[in-house]
Amino acid sequence: YKRITTKSLVEMKANGEKISMLTAYDYTMAKIVDGAGIDVILVGDSASNVMAGHETTLPITLDQMIYHASSVVRAIDRCLVVVDLPFGTYQGNSKNALESAIKIMKETGGHAVKLEGGSEIGESISRILTAGIPVMGHLGLTPQSIYKFGTYTVRAKEEEEAQKLKEDAKLLEQLGCFALVLEKVPAKLAQEVAESLTIPVIGIGAGAGVDGQVLVTHDMLGMTHEFNPRFLRRYLDMYTGMTNAFKQYIDDVKSQDFPNENEQY
Ligand code: KIV
Ligand code: NA
Repeated sequence: YKRITTKSLVEMKANGEKISMLTAYDYTMAKIVDGAGIDVILVGDSASNVMAGHETTLPITLDQMIYHASSVVRAIDRCLVVVDLPFGTYQGNSKNALESAIKIMKETGGHAVKLEGGSEIGESISRILTAGIPVMGHLGLTPQSIYKFGTYTVRAKEEEEAQKLKEDAKLLEQLGCFALVLEKVPAKLAQEVAESLTIPVIGIGAGAGVDGQVLVTHDMLGMTHEFNPRFLRRYLDMYTGMTNAFKQYIDDVKSQDFPNENEQY
């Protein structure tokens, strides 16, 4: 096998090969996702929701992200591992941003970091890049700014916000980001952005005109069932499958079907 690098992703875009990306937050899941042949694992701050049960991504800490990311890195052989910088560890102060990114790289073995935002965090992105740490951008619906937006609905439907997004995407490429995520924006806008850049644009709820797709693994496996955005395709119904398995186990324990003769010493 060949290891995926930030360079491979840019080459994939040049060759017209779409990039596949999924989240993982732990060793066992990452081993399955990597073994299946995914290009990129994102250790997303969506761990705040999926793993910890918080309503938003804001509460998760740098040390918690490091725990998740180091668990993922121990599992993988091939994919690129990108780690989200959590809320409060890079905004406003580029020195702080660099320190956070270095801590992630040193303590997890991850290959790149992802930051939410455009021109506002340009200085932080540049400073991280000076240390040789690859940066993935993230524009559109940026969940760390949920209290600014007020809702999780589609972003950049109006011309003004769309214009800002296009400028930010250009800026991220100029600064030296190796890729960027576009979350929940109109497909037409996302395609326009992807076509205007040489770095890959990876979409979530951003249509088919981009260079790759990302989903939250627990959502695409159908483990979560209260989150039903239009862009989510479920590849399994694990909520039902797991519930049935748990019910069966409970029944088997109660009825003393489990353990049987062969399941004891
Ligand atoms: O944290 C996350 O899972 C993400 C993806 C949805 C892009 O940032
Ligand atoms: Na994220």
